[in-house]
Amino acid sequence: MTFATLDDVDVRGKRVLLREDLNVPMKDGAIADETRITAALPTLHRLRDGGAKTIILSHLGRPDGKRDPRYSLRPIAARLAELLGTPVTFVDDCVGAACVAASHAVPDGGFALFENVRFHSEEEANDPGFARSLAESGDLYVNDAFGTAHRAHASTVGVAADLPAYAGLLMAAELEALTRLTHDPVRPFVCAIGGAKVTDKVGVFENLLATVDAFVIGGGMANTFLAAQGVDVGTSLRDPDLGPATRIIAAAKAQGVSLHLPVDAVVADRFDADDTARVVALDAVGSAMILDIGPATAAAYAQVLRGARTIVFNGPMGVYEKKAYQDGTRVIGEAIAAATAAGATSVVGGGDAAAAAHALGFADAMTHVSTGGGATLEFLEGKTLPGVAALLR
Ligand code: 3PG
Ligand code: MG
Repeated sequence: MTFATLDDVDVRGKRVLLREDLNVPMKDGAIADETRITAALPTLHRLRDGGAKTIILSHLGRPDGKRDPRYSLRPIAARLAELLGTPVTFVDDCVGAACVAASHAVPDGGFALFENVRFHSEEEANDPGFARSLAESGDLYVNDAFGTAHRAHASTVGVAADLPAYAGLLMAAELEALTRLTHDPVRPFVCAIGGAKVTDKVGVFENLLATVDAFVIGGGMANTFLAAQGVDVGTSLRDPDLGPATRIIAAAKAQGVSLHLPVDAVVADRFDADDTARVVALDAVGSAMILDIGPATAAAYAQVLRGARTIVFNGPMGVYEKKAYQDGTRVIGEAIAAATAAGATSVVGGGDAAAAAHALGFADAMTHVSTGGGATLEFLEGKTLPGVAALLR
């Protein structure tokens, strides 16, 4: 995988059209989590120090091709200016004469942020004319939006055909970290996987079965695997169709990959009855609902993870948002942190996994926490991301 990076170009005095993924969660008009904003800072600092006129493009939410003030990037411009300690001019559109004029007006080392590219339906349609209009505000194009690299849109793919295109520092770091998982990983390679449904992650299982030594499985999807093995999981969340889980179990067996499943669980009478939370063996779930892996399972998974040299953490083990059901995810997070301290490479990928790692305080102990949700999943499924393909040469 070779692409041009910021090391390959002198940006001084040039208008750099920079695609970032500033699609951050918002709550009541305020930024609820600024991880993706801070992740963009290394590239922004590099462009500032290099004397570029940086024009930032991003989307926010899914406004469906229409101008909608709820999805305005204006609050992000204000926060960027604070973080950068320098003004960031907000321009309330992303194409047209006013935008082109604004791009020329950015001082060397300065910044402008254009309004949400998804206010135009041509963005998601990857309309070539729209891409050319975007390109008029740049002399060169830098794509740093790893989190949006699975979308073939005008600002992530189309514009790369109109301007000399480079990967930003975040894009390069994400690809480097994720490629370490898929290309000749140091063994043992263990994937801790969780999430609601097996069907959401069939592609991840299928692709990683070729490279991992073991999976440790938690979350709602563990219930589906257990049910596929004939365990009565009571009223637990599980996929109605046990076919995919059954096929994954058979494929793992055929390929000599260990598939670790829970031996005990934290259950409750109902989802909202935390006061009834208790640990049970898996033959004693009864009519209860499984909401976390149990302590014996967590200890066994932790042991597998501590022996690993490459780890991907791809989903929480339980309903970590609630205190009663966060121990499973915390224990395996601590084990991954210990393995990392001892020299293992650990990557957190997929939206829920990153949120859990931040919430439970082990994100900083990981080698890399991906800013991608869907993009990281598609990468782990072995798919070529269109935004990356557009940069390859
Ligand atoms: C994401 O958060 O998944 C990316 O920013 C892409 O957004 P989308 O899922 O709305 O295309
Ligand atoms: Mg998404």
